[in-house]
Amino acid sequence: MNPSCAECVQLQLNFQGKESMTIKLLLLSSLLLTSISSGCAGLTSAFIRNEWPSVDIPLNNEVFAVPKGYNAPHQVHITQGDYDGKAVIITWVTANEPGSNIVRYGLSEGKYDFTAKGTVQNYTFYNYKSGYIHQCLVDGLQYNTKYYYEIGSGETSRSFWFQTPPAIDPDSSHKFAIIGDLGQTYNSLSTLEHCMQTGAQTILFVGDLSYADRYDNHDIGVRWDSWGQFVERSAAYHPWLWSTGNHEIEYFPHLGEVTLFRNYLHRYPTPFSASKSSSPLWYAIRRASAHIIVLSSYSPFVKYTPQWKWLEQELKKVDREKTPWLIVLMHAPIYNSNQAHFLEAESMKVVFESWFCHYKVDVIFAGHVHAYERSYRISSIRSNVSSSPSSDKSAPVYITVGDGGNQEGLANRFRDPQPDYSAFREASYGHSTLEIKNRTHAFYHWNRNDDGKRVPTDEFVLHNQYWGDSHRRRKLERYSM
Ligand SMILES: [Fe+2]
Repeated sequence: MNPSCAECVQLQLNFQGKESMTIKLLLLSSLLLTSISSGCAGLTSAFIRNEWPSVDIPLNNEVFAVPKGYNAPHQVHITQGDYDGKAVIITWVTANEPGSNIVRYGLSEGKYDFTAKGTVQNYTFYNYKSGYIHQCLVDGLQYNTKYYYEIGSGETSRSFWFQTPPAIDPDSSHKFAIIGDLGQTYNSLSTLEHCMQTGAQTILFVGDLSYADRYDNHDIGVRWDSWGQFVERSAAYHPWLWSTGNHEIEYFPHLGEVTLFRNYLHRYPTPFSASKSSSPLWYAIRRASAHIIVLSSYSPFVKYTPQWKWLEQELKKVDREKTPWLIVLMHAPIYNSNQAHFLEAESMKVVFESWFCHYKVDVIFAGHVHAYERSYRISSIRSNVSSSPSSDKSAPVYITVGDGGNQEGLANRFRDPQPDYSAFREASYGHSTLEIKNRTHAFYHWNRNDDGKRVPTDEFVLHNQYWGDSHRRRKLERYSM
């Protein structure tokens, strides 16, 4: 079920590397020859972009600067706070004392008619002691409304804003950005800045946040703090939906730290109880016209485990008449043809792939592999052979976007030849956007970081798996006449 050759040619024409026109023409003619002989192959971009050395930005850089003044709130970030988008959870840190737990908020700047009261806690990790971490649920919000909020007290209080999503409706439009494996290098900064330029309203984060676990002892906590400050420029204004990766596990018996996900869980809350999940590591939300399911690649998921039982129930709750777009996030990719982490998610594929196809998931985003790759709609259900999946119109598109820019560098060794299931792959840093227009169509882009510019490099129109069904399409056409 490869896309038509015309689509492939369009992909090729959209490929914006720095090759000469001659190379482009050669590539195009080779693609056409391949298309004639064997259907239509995917594209391996020869372009590799590694703008900056893969080292973390020094701690004294201004990107990590904590606001001046006694007990000033910092590391501010928000996430959706309920199932349907009428609440946010606001998180911030104060350094000197617990201070105020109150969020003041309202509909115009500087005029805060409402308040909400949060909680505060701190924790230790080996010999590191965290600041005072505040978490506050602000609920009962109106849809599609800009709210201004203020936290802290006195001269060091700080103010921000956020926009609530449109109501749950099959034709609500919404723009998501997708980032994975971000870290805190200059490449990470480039990805973050490009993401902020896209106008995305919500960020879907597919795991591996700070890479603080690559540090020793006390510095692990310090680098969790610097990352919190690093992403504040976006996350204080736009909700980030969190999922975990292997770098959040942090199982360090030599430090006496054996509670998994300890730093992550203290800092990045999720609205898991709203979807009746028993763990913050897997949960679901609905936002505009999308139903988004977040899975944990590093928690038990085989049959009868809590995650398996929860997903079984959550998928039954998906109502495509209300939320036509079904999106799944996880960390380790189920289909990817890079040498790095090859087949690491085979067990999750065996357990969940038949559900993904049965429920016609539109798209699955993952990270982990530090390169970009997009698949065609394929599954291993019929063949039962993992290494040779076949076309399956009911299957999701699998997108790996673990190219946020962390200190481990790029995964630039793809398996050769490119498997039939792989539509496009490139070892460069960047991020994706998914712009849902209505119940039937969404525009997808992968944006490469290129000399400080954001260059849309891979793109396609995503047709909704539910409303694209011919019977429903006819029904929709009758309604619109
Ligand atoms: Fe990872």
